[in-house]
Amino acid sequence: MADEARALWSTVDRYVAETLGLRDKQLQEVLDASEQAGIRHGSIPPYLGRFLELLVRIGGAERVLEIGTLSGYSTIWMARALPPDGRLVTLEADPRYAELARQNIAGAGLTDSVEVVVGRALDTLSALVERGAAPFDMTFIDADKKNNDAYLELVLKLSRPGATIVADNVVRGGAVADPHGEDPRLDSGGLDGLRRFYKRLGDDPRVSATAIQTVDHKGHDGFALARVNDGRSY
Ligand code: SAH
Ligand code: DHB
Ligand code: MG
Repeated sequence: MADEARALWSTVDRYVAETLGLRDKQLQEVLDASEQAGIRHGSIPPYLGRFLELLVRIGGAERVLEIGTLSGYSTIWMARALPPDGRLVTLEADPRYAELARQNIAGAGLTDSVEVVVGRALDTLSALVERGAAPFDMTFIDADKKNNDAYLELVLKLSRPGATIVADNVVRGGAVADPHGEDPRLDSGGLDGLRRFYKRLGDDPRVSATAIQTVDHKGHDGFALARVNDGRSY
């Protein structure tokens, strides 16, 4: 990747974040706390945070599910957009991240609307299905990409008709579309998992989806946006 292009994308990122007010004290504190804790995983960029916030508001989502909490940065963007009785359930495998997220969520005054559930998401999602959890209006998938396909299957069981699903990091510098592509920053099997995820998004009649490429300071990536079909033709 040309450094020049990356520098330009970063400049535009900063311009957008500054002019649209995508940074504030609370969110900055979350990012600072992550840095201090030496966390190597990435939170979503600010433009995607606002995008998720807008999706919650536009869709009027009252029940939001997140897979992959980390320090709670994306959680806070979405939880802020909930109506007073709204709830967000976020799933995290690593108890240390879950604890940090709880602290950050408390710092943002959102403890009453957010539940951080510790465990591997395949297990915790299955538990939600088994106990007949009320359907979710929106889900954000952002954990180990190798399991995205399995997450989608479980999320479909947990979603109301018309629900929104967003998945982060579905382009990975273009590697997803390159049969010889590699992405050392992804968990092993991540690319194959992403490809199975795309195949299901394309083939499964229960869902209608697109994927949008993005460029920012981390390079070339993208997110998928899907809607759970409600039986109407459109
Ligand atoms: N959504 C966050 C970033 C998540 S990073 C944000 O944008 O702010 C990915 C997270 O998924 C990490 O915290 C990692 O511990 C978690 N994770 C990885 N594998 C998981 C699994 N099997 N189940 C649940 N969480 C998992
Ligand atoms: C990376 C970024 C992410 O948002 C993520 O969920 C996983 C990996 C990365 O840039 O390496
Ligand atoms: Mg991500």
